Amino acid sequence: MSSFLRIKLQLLFIVASCVPLLNAQWAPFVSDPDAAQRIAWWREARFGMFLHWGVYSIPGRGEWVEWAEQIPVDQYAKFADQFHPERFDADAWARIAKAGGMKYMVLTARHHDGFALFDDPGSSFTAMKSAARHDFVADYVKAVRKAGLGVGLYYSPLDWRFPGFYFPGIYQANAIELREQYQRQIDELATHYGKLDILWFDGGGNEWLGFGGLQFTGSGWRARPKDEPYSGSFDWQDVKTVAHLRQLQPGIILNDRTNAPADFRSREGDGALGDFDNQHPWELCTTITEGAWGFQANAKVKPLAQLLRLLVGAAGRDGNMLLNVGPRPDGQIDPPQAERLAEIGQWLSQFGESIYGTRGGPWLPGAYGVSTHNGTMVYLHVLHPPEGGPLVLPSLPVRVAKAWILHGGDVPFQQTDQTLMLHLPAGSSDAIDTVVKLELAEPWTSSAVVPVPEK
Ligand code: GLC
Repeated sequence: MSSFLRIKLQLLFIVASCVPLLNAQWAPFVSDPDAAQRIAWWREARFGMFLHWGVYSIPGRGEWVEWAEQIPVDQYAKFADQFHPERFDADAWARIAKAGGMKYMVLTARHHDGFALFDDPGSSFTAMKSAARHDFVADYVKAVRKAGLGVGLYYSPLDWRFPGFYFPGIYQANAIELREQYQRQIDELATHYGKLDILWFDGGGNEWLGFGGLQFTGSGWRARPKDEPYSGSFDWQDVKTVAHLRQLQPGIILNDRTNAPADFRSREGDGALGDFDNQHPWELCTTITEGAWGFQANAKVKPLAQLLRLLVGAAGRDGNMLLNVGPRPDGQIDPPQAERLAEIGQWLSQFGESIYGTRGGPWLPGAYGVSTHNGTMVYLHVLHPPEGGPLVLPSLPVRVAKAWILHGGDVPFQQTDQTLMLHLPAGSSDAIDTVVKLELAEPWTSSAVVPVPEK
């Protein structure tokens, strides 16, 4: 392994300049008859908690610290000797998620550094072999299940400790070892912890494989462009591994960061909120703090307004939001992050009916904000109230029977074939989101949408 380490380090120097703006792999979607029913609970849930936690939480400079600071693998491995999170309490995590109005959780069972938070007898780099000598995934799954939340695990097939990941063509035997680890660990996760609801893949598939790997072009070597998938002969065998996973865990849902058929698509970061899509289930994952996903001391927590607008923006585009916290090395979720989540939860306890169980639309996002609906109820999330006049939207082909501010007074309106004009009462605007509730004469059951001018 030591010559491998040297090679890896040299490689890191070569590719450090082309790190890490990779996009999600767009795997095909599942097409089996149970797909819609399998994911129905998740679509209704709308809001989940992501947790990035591992030995990288100890230095506290994000989950990419090993890569970014070129820490040699054997030196990085020593963090495991300091990993004894005395304030780890999975029930407390679940309580914080529930108080935040979240309906499911996704924990990094293993990130790109290779450290497994679960028991894998086949690996030397696990929580069982750390100072803690503990299986954190076991406690986590139990606590999340007990709290009545959806149980999700994040897993990265790639592992920076394997030169076969960088150069699968040259280190073929090592790449095969990496693949065997992936297959074994997925098997362990799927068989040792009871029912799992979500497996959230990252760093899998051909897009990341041979990450930055050099290619010989005939006349010289070049780094593979960021958006070009690996096209060599090594194969992750994702289709086989994922089919086996689905057999072991019928009902599990998977995202699109392997080459195997996915149940939902991942969008990443505040800037990736993107377009309305009510044809393919999707989820925006983002961080509650500025900066990395893993713990960073004194990281700035994003303002409530920004986070709520993202959540509302996702629901109004017919997607979910998975909001990340990075627990401290002692296992605790940083109190300022927990406090922000409690604020989101308070908002949801008042306005949750306009988020949970809704679908995006019928009005597309526009200058006013976004809309959601559920049966005969339509919720207009007015993020930018009109100044000095009524809110005018294109009409719906259904009669609006009633309109009011959610938890407020009536909203006078006029509906014609062309327009719906809403007169928001003076003083009714909320600084973050004014939720106007409309009752339709008939339920809105179609996936049809009404475009709204941008101005
Ligand atoms: C980015 C980060 C990675 C994180 C992931 C979550 O790809 O680089 O560390 O786990 O986002 O989606």
